[in-house]
Amino acid sequence: MQILVLGGAGYIGGHTSVVLTERGHQVVIADNFSNSSRAAVARLEQVVGAPLPLHELDVRDSVGLERVFSQYRFDAVMHFAALKAVGESCKKPLDYFDNNISGTITVLRAMSEANVRRLVFSSSATVYGDPEQVPVREDAPLQASNPYGRTKLVMEQLIGDLCTADPNFRAAVLRYFNPVGAHPSGLIGEDPNGPPNNLMPFMCQVAVGRRERLQVFGDDYPTVDGTGVRDYLHVMDLARAHVDALDYLCNKDRSVTVNLGTGSGVSVLQMVKAFERAAGKAIPYDIVARRLGDSATVFADPGLAHALLGWKAEHDLDAMCRDAWRWQALNPQGYGSIIQPD
Ligand code: NAD
Ligand code: WQD
Repeated sequence: MQILVLGGAGYIGGHTSVVLTERGHQVVIADNFSNSSRAAVARLEQVVGAPLPLHELDVRDSVGLERVFSQYRFDAVMHFAALKAVGESCKKPLDYFDNNISGTITVLRAMSEANVRRLVFSSSATVYGDPEQVPVREDAPLQASNPYGRTKLVMEQLIGDLCTADPNFRAAVLRYFNPVGAHPSGLIGEDPNGPPNNLMPFMCQVAVGRRERLQVFGDDYPTVDGTGVRDYLHVMDLARAHVDALDYLCNKDRSVTVNLGTGSGVSVLQMVKAFERAAGKAIPYDIVARRLGDSATVFADPGLAHALLGWKAEHDLDAMCRDAWRWQALNPQGYGSIIQPD
């Protein structure tokens, strides 16, 4: 199939483009490079061993989108293009509403006009807010804890309304828990702009010498060692889930909303230990105050994704840390680095 990957130069869209290509699909990437670079796409091409058609495009640009849709006959769209920093969303909510919500409306309209009626959408565990129960099932109450989370909730609702209104439109809404790791080649990976907000990229930058110490946000949570517990998931498992979801949309001809996680909770200090084993070096850290808005424990019940898509996470924590570290060690400055020969 021919798939339009919006936000395909980014972390998860890039890894998914690799798996799509491996599974025989033709990928067309569109991205405005607000949080990525052409260098990332060049690396993707190195991984897949073929050129990938690329369009520099903002998803809010209806004319540009229409132009891209008119150049190809897409079977489906995968929509990764969004701003994703929780803290920034609290300071600049309008930017998030505009980029994420207006962007999605523009994408849905362009799809309708081009008669493309299969969508795989990046949602997030953030739609559960601070969950009342773990593991979290898809029928748990939904709530927004911050403007970023609100955009994901609203986008899910917009897509749901379109599925109701248009009997031929099918969407897979994928609620990711905590994606980490990188392609095993070490050629592509997560390359945040500025200080990383998330645990794994921060640890990677400490290990490679770009930052001095990790701050562990709170050790007084009611968890195994007092630090926050999350469901970390290898990005290659996550990428595979997108292609499985695409197969589901096309073969079963039904829409679906599923959690994507391993189903296991890992504390910050357990994660630090696993990363130290993988990197073969100590990660110096300080325990500091809790981060505003953090939950104590969040992990998925991934049973529905297994039942409907036949998908299950396969990589363990050691593989997540090993692959994240390989990427960072080979590319200390991310895509700004020169790749080292084997
Ligand atoms: P990313 O920032 O690496 O990738 C997003 C890509 O979209 C970037 O290349 C960016 O340049 C592009 N983009 C953003 N706004 C755009 C616009 N208006 N027009 C065109 N391109 C645009 O982020 P990611 O981690 O790969 O996340 C992908 C998706 O998954 C996002 O929707 C994010 O909200 C969601 N998600 C991510 C996580 C996570 O922890 N990484 C967790 C849950 C959900
Ligand atoms: C994990 C744990 C922190 C950094 C966020 C978004 C969520 C989703 C994924 C997009 C927590 C602790 C972290 C650090 C730390 N994104 N931590 N020191 O908060 O579960 O989820 O990313 O949809 O919406 O909220 O992930 O990696 O930031 O934090 O101690 O420097 O690590 O307190 O317990 P989080 P994270």
